[in-house]
Amino acid sequence: MAVWIDPIFRRFSWVLTSTTIAFLVACGGDPGPEEPRQEAVPELAPPPVVPSAPEPPPPPLVPSVPEPTPPPVVPSVPEPTPQDVLPLVVSDPRRGEQLFTMTPRPGTLICVDCHGENPAVNNFGNIWSGKNAVFFIQRAVSSNTGGMNRFASIYSAKDFADIAAFLGNTPSALQFGATPIGTTSGAKVLTVSTSTKIGIENLSIKLVGDFKLESTTCASSVPRFSSCTVSVAFRPQAQGVRTGAILLNHDGTPAPISIALSGDGL
Ligand code: HEC
Repeated sequence: MAVWIDPIFRRFSWVLTSTTIAFLVACGGDPGPEEPRQEAVPELAPPPVVPSAPEPPPPPLVPSVPEPTPPPVVPSVPEPTPQDVLPLVVSDPRRGEQLFTMTPRPGTLICVDCHGENPAVNNFGNIWSGKNAVFFIQRAVSSNTGGMNRFASIYSAKDFADIAAFLGNTPSALQFGATPIGTTSGAKVLTVSTSTKIGIENLSIKLVGDFKLESTTCASSVPRFSSCTVSVAFRPQAQGVRTGAILLNHDGTPAPISIALSGDGL
């Protein structure tokens, strides 16, 4: 048995010894070649500690009130006032002037041929009796005064009313110059004349559009063979061309006489 143990022990101790030496040599017995030195990297300074801002205090608790719901948006349409409405049928002195001066039929004598031009100034053939009095024109036509019956088949009652409006109201239209919005222009004057034979009764004056009645000398009844005036100013409410009218109603006209007004709003 010792024979066997001894060689094993010896061999084992040799193994132990040689292993121990090899270990010692590897662990520093032989220093070996030196490793290259590395410069020490300076440690990064830690970021400065920022004092944390205090949290904002929570808003005080308020019982939530429901937002009032906005009313539904409806585009506002201005109500038309009576002033803004022109009658469907009016007596138009500008049209009356055309009928008085321009022949409706070639070769036919017309008013201006027998009564002369500018009846506002000249009373040829007693034309002034027709001022604001359509009755006297129609009577002369129906009674064929001076051969005037030819007009019975040419002109209508509306045409004669337009001519009476032209004869009695001067000028036939009023034009205002450029006027800044919101300001009032200087006044312009309409002259209303009565027939040489009859006065005006139940006269009413109305304005339509951005115009203002400044003054008038016309009462509701105006004596025959006389005149009165209506002063009107322009007061533009918007930019651009503004139109309107003076409406004159009275017993001598079948439809309101419309004196066209216009101006330029700046
Ligand atoms: C062919 C010529 C002639 C034509 C055209 C004519 N007239 Fe006359 N008119 C006369 C004569 C003539 C008288 C009478 C004048 C007098 O009384 O002195 C008269 C009278 C009148 C009178 C006055 C009536 C009165 O009772 O006092 C009126 C108003 C009149 N005419 C309007 C017109 C109108 C408007 C027209 C066009 C639509 C017209 N006349 C066309 C010849 C004419």
